[in-house]
Amino acid sequence: MGKKYSIAVVGATGAVGREMLAVLAERNFPIADLRALASHRSAGGLVDFGSRSVTVKELAPDSFQGIDIALFSAGAAVSKEFAPLAQRAGTIVVDNSSAFRMASEVPLVVPEVNPQALKNHKGIIANPNCSTIQMVVVLKPLHDAAGIKRVVVSTYQSVSGTGKHAMDELFEQCKLIVSLQGDKIKPEAYPHQIAFNCLPHIDEFLENGYTKEELKMINETRKILGEASLPITATTVRVPVFVSHS
Ligand SMILES: NC(=O)c1ccc[n+]([C@@H]2O[C@H](COP(=O)([O-])OP(=O)(O)OC[C@H]3O[C@@H](n4cnc5c(N)ncnc54)[C@H](OP(=O)(O)O)[C@@H]3O)[C@@H](O)[C@H]2O)c1
Repeated sequence: MGKKYSIAVVGATGAVGREMLAVLAERNFPIADLRALASHRSAGGLVDFGSRSVTVKELAPDSFQGIDIALFSAGAAVSKEFAPLAQRAGTIVVDNSSAFRMASEVPLVVPEVNPQALKNHKGIIANPNCSTIQMVVVLKPLHDAAGIKRVVVSTYQSVSGTGKHAMDELFEQCKLIVSLQGDKIKPEAYPHQIAFNCLPHIDEFLENGYTKEELKMINETRKILGEASLPITATTVRVPVFVSHS
């Protein structure tokens, strides 16, 4: 029988964490022990793992004892605080937040594109922004075959990228609009109404006029392709779709 791994999912109750659990179950990942971790708010609750449920535990400094691999998806602040603790406990961290992506000692990996970068990891491995991942899978073979001179990219990103509260907000706003109560809408997840609207604004605007999301696409793509000065420009737009970026 092959090796089985003890796995922790940090942010197990979130939009991304639930998807991680679903994929682990769907792929029949060889799991010896599964720890579903989140904040004190959802500790004691249940999350689905295939046909069974797992009890959520509160994330704590000692959560990683005996854990082989921890998948982090609870935001950059949580990753910055807890990923180094996991690393010290001997756990391999795969971090889905932006906390370590541009750190020189942390490989930024898309398995289909630069798996060789994994060789030098020191316990923390980052994965890129969701839009960057999709783009580099397409760019890599083109770059290998012909050499890319310049990239101009526009993305149309679903509200799932903001988290479950934004998905709930889109649903509530749609209900208000179809019941002719659109005047009651009070945007919270975004600066403006997202239902039946497109917002060319993801994350904060920076002084140079790009948003942080756009700069993530630029900087992360350069790091993954190993082309530090590749000319790239990005425009990222939030669209009123629940799931799936394009
Ligand atoms: N790379 C990508 O492709 C990609 C795509 C989307 C999102 N993300 C990133 O993934 C992260 C999560 O996104 P999401 O959409 O899943 O957000 P979400 O639906 O809002 O879920 C957040 C998760 O983090 C947990 N959490 C929040 N604060 C915590 C704390 N102090 N201690 C422990 N757990 C805490 C929440 O637990 P409770 O239920 O207890 O509140 C919940 O499980 C973010 O960093 C986001 O930027 C990455």
